[in-house]
Parts: sequence; C-alpha cells; structure tokens
Amino acid sequence: MAKATLDLHFVRQQFPAFSEPSLKGQAFFENAGGSYMCQNVIDRFSAIYHQRKLQPYYAFKASAELGAEMDLAHQRMARYLNVDIDEVMFGPSTSQNTYVLAQALKERLKPGDGIIISGQEHEANTGVWRRLEAAGMRIIIWEVDPSSGQLDLNDLEGLIDDKIKMVAMTHCSNLVADINPVRKVADMAHAAGAILLVDGVSYCPHGFPDLDALGADIYLFSSYKTYGPHQGVMVIRKSARYLLAPQAHYFNHDVPSKWMVPAGPDHAQIAAANGMMDYFDALDAHHGGGDDAMRPRRVEALFHAAEQENLKVMLDYLGQRNDIRLLGPSDATRRAPTVSFVSSRLASQDIAKQLASHGIMVGGGDFYAVRLLETMGVNANDGAVRLSFVHYTSRDEINAALKALDQVL
Ligand SMILES: Cc1ncc(COP(=O)(O)O)c(C=O)c1O
Repeated sequence: MAKATLDLHFVRQQFPAFSEPSLKGQAFFENAGGSYMCQNVIDRFSAIYHQRKLQPYYAFKASAELGAEMDLAHQRMARYLNVDIDEVMFGPSTSQNTYVLAQALKERLKPGDGIIISGQEHEANTGVWRRLEAAGMRIIIWEVDPSSGQLDLNDLEGLIDDKIKMVAMTHCSNLVADINPVRKVADMAHAAGAILLVDGVSYCPHGFPDLDALGADIYLFSSYKTYGPHQGVMVIRKSARYLLAPQAHYFNHDVPSKWMVPAGPDHAQIAAANGMMDYFDALDAHHGGGDDAMRPRRVEALFHAAEQENLKVMLDYLGQRNDIRLLGPSDATRRAPTVSFVSSRLASQDIAKQLASHGIMVGGGDFYAVRLLETMGVNANDGAVRLSFVHYTSRDEINAALKALDQVL
C-alpha cells in the first residue's frame, strides 16, 4: 500500500488559529513552547463549560456524563500510548508532576541510593532530582558532549552501578532535539535494577510513542504542546510503583487516576483531552485509516514524513551559513523539528525580536535548559534562537522563515 501524504489543507482546517484574523501574515515557530489547539479540543471545552461544568461522577445526568468523558480520556490516552488505563494520570503540568514524583521517591529511597540525570534536560527533569541530594541521595550527571550537546551511551555505562535506582532523561531535548535511544537506556537501567524516567514533552508533539515498546517505567509529557489542554500527562508503569510512595489523600492511595496526583483534578481539561484523540482519529480516517491498533503508528508516520521534508530544508539553509552555530545534530533523521542556533555576531534576543517584526513568531532565550546551554558554552542570559515546528507547518511558512533569517542575519 502506498504511504499516505499528509493533507495539509485538511490539517490546517482543524486549527482555528490558521483562520484567525489577528494571526494572519504571521508564521508560528514557537510550537515547542506550546502548540495551537485543535478545534476538537476547543469544541470539547465549549460543550463542557456550557453543559456540564460541575462535579463529576454523581448520579445526575450532567455529572455522570462528565465523569464518563473523563474516564474515556484515560482510556483513549492509554490506548494511544499502548499502556494500561490504570497507568495513566493527568496532572497540572510536567513540572508539577516531576515535583510530586520527587517527593514520592524521597520516601522510598535510602541515603546512598543513586539517581543518574542526563545533562540534556529541561529544568523540570533535573532540578527536582538534584534537590534529593539534601536527603542523602547520590546525584550523578550523565554529561553531554559540550560541542554537540549529545549524550553517549558509553558514558552512561560507566556511571551505572547497583546502587542506582533511577535514570532520568529526555526522549528529545527542547533545545538540541536529538532523539535519544530510549529503548537502549531502558535495557541498561533495567539490567542494573533501576527504573527509567523519560521526559517526552518535546517528543510527543511529533507523534505519541508506543510506550510499551519504548520500555520507560515513567513517561511524562504536556498536552498543551500536543494540540490539547494545559495539562501534564504522566504514565507510571506497574514496574515503577515499588519506588514511589503515594502522594494523594490517604483514601485515594489505591485510586489509579489519583495516587500520584495530589492536586484536585481539572475536570474540564481531562475531559477535553479527548479532543486530541478525536483529532488524531479524524486525521487517520481522512488518510485512509486501517487497523485500530496501528492508528497511533500511522498518525506518527504522517507527522514524521511531513516534518522531515521541512526540517531538511531548514537544516540545509542553516548548514550553509558560517555565522551561526546550530545546536544539536545537522542530520534531520536524528532530530525533531526544534531547531536552535546562536549567531557569532548578533544577540539571540535581538534576532528573535527582528524575526517577530518580519512576522516570524519564534522564541529567544534559555527555554529552561540553562544547565545544557552552560555546558555547551552558550551564554544562557542571551540564550539561543529557537524555530520549532510541527506537522501543520507549511512549506510557505518555512520559506518565509528562511527569507526573514536571510534579512535579519
Ligand atoms: C522538554 C520539556 N520538559 C518539561 C517541560 C515542562 O513542562 P510543563 O510546562 O508542563 O511543566 C517543558 C516545557 O516547556 C519542556 O519543554
């Protein structure tokens, strides 16, 4: 069967931002900060806020319906990620979720137990673990290569011992965007009796992974970057439970959706998360569909093919400039379309400002990956320029960004 090509017209019709007059003439390249929201999610919110903005799970109709919609979001998210429904939780954000997980670990780890943290992390997946040092944990940093920003498995090999209880790493950095070999790290961690926690925030906008195949014991991402509500999705596999003390009210310790989420649930956001899967399902059906179990893989393949073509164009352009330093690999197949660079002449903040005046919406700064920037010898106060895009980005927008870069640089 011939591979389907992404129907960009169809895709962009699902995002009201593309027909919003106030955004007209501007190309959006700050997707790694937060994506546009798809119409299906907005529709869900609208229906919830109009018809059932109340406490869920009671016997009256509107309440029961909201509860059922929340349960459905758990069920569909679990199916998309290929995990069990009782392994999926929604929390306020990924930073909040790692914060809670750190409290949970603290209760179970003993002084001298070790945690390995990659040097490629957003602060959300490093600061909370580092703070456990005060409780006697050994914190070991798996450093990146300062020139490429990449991690080397051989370095990790030398750090793991039988006192290591957890390895924390990103699936894909929000700055260097290198896609890390999670399966291999999972195997190494498991062989040493440790669990693997993976920050999937920068990976998931490009397709939800098969978590069972990936092997991570804990996997986190933020659905406001995957076209959905401002929530953190947290998957805790059964294999990680023994290391985590429940953090909810005592009577919720055995409730799968609550035991690691002390915050009261944002019912509307959880229920509206269905809209992401509504969108993915509609996209898949529009492109021919097929076996239900393979739907996430088809959606991921559609995203990937569309993104890779645009990514090659952008990396080719940046590759022929000798006044910029690209952060991360120049090979499109090794990275996500989150493209950061620094200029040898101009401040990143100025470049970002000037690009904005050309209608190119980009970010300039440290993107909360301060430690990584510092290791790479980049002035974190000025930071980098980041052009991040996703499947809905058009070639016209890529060309507009390159034209503006030509003028600004
Ligand atoms: C790679 C990465 N990890 C973690 C986070 C934190 O996510 P949240 O904003 O949901 O706390 C971000 C946010 O930008 C991120 O880019």
